[in-house]
Amino acid sequence: MQARDFLQISKIIPVITIYDVKTSIDLAQALANGGIKILEITLRTKEALEAINLISKEMPDIIVGAGTILNAKMLEQAKNAGAKFAISPGLNAIFAKESKTIDLPLIPGVATAGELMLALEFGFENLKFFPAEASGGIPMLKSLLAPFNKVKFCPTGGISLGNIKEYLTLENVLCVGGSWLSPKELIFDKQWDKITKITQESLAKTL
Ligand code: 3PG
Repeated sequence: MQARDFLQISKIIPVITIYDVKTSIDLAQALANGGIKILEITLRTKEALEAINLISKEMPDIIVGAGTILNAKMLEQAKNAGAKFAISPGLNAIFAKESKTIDLPLIPGVATAGELMLALEFGFENLKFFPAEASGGIPMLKSLLAPFNKVKFCPTGGISLGNIKEYLTLENVLCVGGSWLSPKELIFDKQWDKITKITQESLAKTL
Protein backbone atom coordinates (compact mmCIF):
# COMPACT_ATOMS: atom_id res chain seq x y z
CA MET A 1 0.00 0.00 0.00
CA GLN A 2 1.14 3.54 -0.77
CA ALA A 3 0.89 6.58 1.52
CA ARG A 4 -2.27 7.79 -0.22
CA ASP A 5 -4.03 4.46 0.35
CA PHE A 6 -3.67 4.88 4.10
CA LEU A 7 -5.23 8.35 3.96
CA GLN A 8 -8.20 6.94 2.05
CA ILE A 9 -9.16 4.18 4.48
CA SER A 10 -11.13 6.37 6.87
CA LYS A 11 -12.09 10.03 7.22
CA ILE A 12 -10.62 9.97 10.73
CA ILE A 13 -7.27 8.66 11.97
CA PRO A 14 -7.16 8.69 15.77
CA VAL A 15 -3.82 9.84 17.16
CA ILE A 16 -3.23 7.87 20.34
CA THR A 17 -0.56 7.93 23.01
CA ILE A 18 0.01 4.79 25.05
CA TYR A 19 0.77 5.19 28.75
CA ASP A 20 0.22 1.57 29.73
CA VAL A 21 0.65 -1.34 27.32
CA LYS A 22 -1.76 -3.41 29.43
CA THR A 23 -4.70 -1.17 28.45
CA SER A 24 -3.63 -0.60 24.85
CA ILE A 25 -5.90 -3.33 23.48
CA ASP A 26 -8.87 -1.97 25.46
CA LEU A 27 -8.22 1.45 23.97
CA ALA A 28 -7.86 0.15 20.41
CA GLN A 29 -10.99 -1.98 20.93
CA ALA A 30 -12.96 1.03 22.18
CA LEU A 31 -12.04 2.90 19.00
CA ALA A 32 -12.77 -0.14 16.82
CA ASN A 33 -16.16 -0.55 18.51
CA GLY A 34 -16.91 3.01 17.43
CA GLY A 35 -16.04 2.17 13.81
CA ILE A 36 -12.33 2.96 13.56
CA LYS A 37 -10.28 0.88 11.09
CA ILE A 38 -6.94 2.70 11.21
CA LEU A 39 -5.03 4.46 13.96
CA GLU A 40 -1.74 6.18 14.69
CA ILE A 41 0.27 5.41 17.82
CA THR A 42 2.66 8.22 18.70
CA LEU A 43 6.25 7.38 19.60
CA ARG A 44 6.00 9.79 22.52
CA THR A 45 6.16 7.19 25.26
CA LYS A 46 8.43 4.21 25.79
CA GLU A 47 5.37 1.96 25.60
CA ALA A 48 4.59 2.92 22.00
CA LEU A 49 6.61 0.32 20.08
CA GLU A 50 5.38 -2.56 22.21
CA ALA A 51 1.78 -1.36 21.77
CA ILE A 52 2.21 -1.13 17.98
CA ASN A 53 3.42 -4.71 18.02
CA LEU A 54 0.67 -5.94 20.32
CA ILE A 55 -2.28 -4.22 18.62
CA SER A 56 -1.02 -5.28 15.17
CA LYS A 57 -0.94 -8.91 16.31
CA GLU A 58 -4.10 -9.02 18.43
CA MET A 59 -6.28 -6.89 16.15
CA PRO A 60 -5.35 -7.79 12.58
CA ASP A 61 -8.35 -5.90 11.18
CA ILE A 62 -7.00 -2.59 12.48
CA ILE A 63 -4.30 -0.85 10.46
CA VAL A 64 -1.69 0.43 12.87
CA GLY A 65 0.64 3.28 11.99
CA ALA A 66 3.36 5.00 13.99
CA GLY A 67 3.36 8.73 14.65
CA THR A 68 5.75 11.37 15.96
CA ILE A 69 8.52 9.88 13.84
CA LEU A 70 11.36 12.40 14.01
CA ASN A 71 14.19 10.63 12.19
CA ALA A 72 15.17 7.54 10.21
CA LYS A 73 16.06 5.56 13.32
CA MET A 74 12.53 5.96 14.68
CA LEU A 75 11.15 5.07 11.27
CA GLU A 76 13.09 1.84 11.31
CA GLN A 77 11.96 1.04 14.86
CA ALA A 78 8.34 1.63 13.83
CA LYS A 79 8.74 -0.72 10.86
CA ASN A 80 10.34 -3.41 13.02
CA ALA A 81 7.51 -3.09 15.56
CA GLY A 82 5.00 -3.88 12.81
CA ALA A 83 3.68 -0.45 11.87
CA LYS A 84 2.12 -0.38 8.40
CA PHE A 85 2.78 3.32 7.82
CA ALA A 86 4.43 6.25 9.55
CA ILE A 87 3.63 9.90 10.15
CA SER A 88 6.02 12.68 11.14
CA PRO A 89 5.13 16.08 12.56
CA GLY A 90 7.59 17.84 10.23
CA LEU A 91 10.25 17.26 7.62
CA ASN A 92 13.88 18.14 7.06
CA ALA A 93 16.21 17.23 4.19
CA ILE A 94 18.23 14.68 6.18
CA PHE A 95 15.18 12.75 7.29
CA ALA A 96 13.54 13.04 3.86
CA LYS A 97 16.63 11.50 2.23
CA GLU A 98 17.23 8.79 4.83
CA SER A 99 13.56 7.80 4.92
CA LYS A 100 13.87 6.63 1.32
CA THR A 101 16.14 3.80 2.45
CA ILE A 102 13.44 2.36 4.73
CA ASP A 103 10.56 0.49 3.20
CA LEU A 104 7.69 1.98 5.15
CA PRO A 105 5.21 4.48 3.66
CA LEU A 106 5.82 7.88 5.27
CA ILE A 107 3.35 10.75 5.53
CA PRO A 108 5.49 13.74 6.50
CA GLY A 109 4.14 16.80 8.25
CA VAL A 110 4.30 20.29 6.78
CA ALA A 111 2.95 23.66 7.87
CA THR A 112 4.24 26.10 5.23
CA ALA A 113 4.62 26.40 1.46
CA GLY A 114 8.40 26.11 1.81
CA GLU A 115 8.18 22.83 3.74
CA LEU A 116 5.72 21.58 1.17
CA MET A 117 8.22 22.34 -1.58
CA LEU A 118 10.87 20.37 0.30
CA ALA A 119 8.43 17.45 0.60
CA LEU A 120 7.74 17.57 -3.15
CA GLU A 121 11.49 17.55 -3.90
CA PHE A 122 11.58 14.13 -2.25
CA GLY A 123 8.43 12.88 -3.92
CA PHE A 124 6.05 13.22 -0.97
CA GLU A 125 2.58 14.28 -2.15
CA ASN A 126 0.53 12.88 0.73
CA LEU A 127 1.14 14.98 3.79
CA LYS A 128 0.08 15.73 7.29
CA PHE A 129 -0.80 19.40 7.79
CA PHE A 130 0.44 20.11 11.30
CA PRO A 131 -0.30 21.85 13.59
CA ALA A 132 -3.43 22.50 11.54
CA GLU A 133 -5.34 25.05 13.59
CA ALA A 134 -2.23 26.91 14.78
CA SER A 135 -0.83 27.09 11.22
CA GLY A 136 -3.77 28.76 9.57
CA GLY A 137 -6.31 25.95 9.49
CA ILE A 138 -8.90 25.91 6.75
CA PRO A 139 -7.95 29.25 5.09
CA MET A 140 -4.32 28.05 4.86
CA LEU A 141 -5.33 24.75 3.23
CA LYS A 142 -7.52 26.65 0.76
CA SER A 143 -4.58 28.91 -0.10
CA LEU A 144 -2.24 25.94 -0.65
CA LEU A 145 -4.64 24.31 -3.10
CA ALA A 146 -3.91 26.56 -6.10
CA PRO A 147 -0.10 26.25 -6.21
CA PHE A 148 -0.01 22.65 -4.96
CA ASN A 149 -3.08 21.10 -6.53
CA LYS A 150 -1.79 17.52 -6.56
CA VAL A 151 -1.04 17.42 -2.86
CA LYS A 152 -3.43 15.77 -0.38
CA PHE A 153 -3.47 16.37 3.34
CA CYS A 154 -4.44 14.88 6.64
CA PRO A 155 -4.74 17.92 8.93
CA THR A 156 -4.06 17.28 12.61
CA GLY A 157 -3.53 19.51 15.60
CA GLY A 158 -6.61 21.20 16.98
CA ILE A 159 -9.15 19.05 15.14
CA SER A 160 -12.30 18.39 17.14
CA LEU A 161 -15.94 17.41 16.78
CA GLY A 162 -16.65 21.07 16.04
CA ASN A 163 -14.50 21.44 12.92
CA ILE A 164 -14.12 17.95 11.35
CA LYS A 165 -16.91 18.51 8.84
CA GLU A 166 -15.54 21.80 7.58
CA TYR A 167 -12.03 20.36 7.07
CA LEU A 168 -13.40 17.36 5.20
CA THR A 169 -15.21 19.53 2.65
CA LEU A 170 -11.83 20.79 1.35
CA GLU A 171 -10.72 19.34 -1.97
CA ASN A 172 -7.14 18.76 -0.76
CA VAL A 173 -8.14 17.02 2.49
CA LEU A 174 -8.57 13.24 2.48
CA CYS A 175 -8.97 12.70 6.21
CA VAL A 176 -8.33 14.36 9.55
CA GLY A 177 -6.40 13.12 12.56
CA GLY A 178 -6.23 13.91 16.22
CA SER A 179 -6.34 12.97 19.84
CA TRP A 180 -9.82 14.23 20.67
CA LEU A 181 -11.33 10.74 20.42
CA SER A 182 -9.26 9.38 23.27
CA PRO A 183 -8.55 12.09 25.86
CA LYS A 184 -5.94 11.18 28.47
CA GLU A 185 -8.46 11.40 31.36
CA LEU A 186 -10.78 8.86 29.71
CA ILE A 187 -7.87 6.49 29.10
CA PHE A 188 -6.66 6.79 32.70
CA ASP A 189 -10.20 6.23 34.03
CA LYS A 190 -10.72 3.32 31.60
CA GLN A 191 -13.87 4.98 30.26
CA TRP A 192 -13.87 2.84 27.12
CA ASP A 193 -17.59 3.31 26.43
CA LYS A 194 -17.13 7.07 26.39
CA ILE A 195 -14.29 6.73 23.87
CA THR A 196 -16.52 4.54 21.70
CA LYS A 197 -19.29 7.15 21.92
CA ILE A 198 -17.00 10.06 20.92
CA THR A 199 -15.75 7.91 18.03
CA GLN A 200 -19.28 7.17 16.84
CA GLU A 201 -20.26 10.84 17.09
CA SER A 202 -17.12 11.86 15.20
CA LEU A 203 -17.57 9.33 12.40
CA ALA A 204 -21.23 10.37 12.09
CA LYS A 205 -19.99 13.88 11.22
CA THR A 206 -18.07 12.51 8.25
CA LEU A 207 -21.11 11.03 6.49
C1 3PG B 1 -0.51 14.93 16.32
O1 3PG B 1 0.58 14.46 16.59
O2 3PG B 1 -1.05 14.75 15.23
C2 3PG B 1 -1.15 15.83 17.30
O3 3PG B 1 -0.64 15.72 18.57
C3 3PG B 1 -2.62 15.72 17.31
O4 3PG B 1 -3.05 16.96 17.70
P1 3PG B 1 -4.25 17.10 18.70
O5 3PG B 1 -3.76 16.54 20.01
O6 3PG B 1 -4.52 18.59 18.78
O7 3PG B 1 -5.41 16.34 18.16
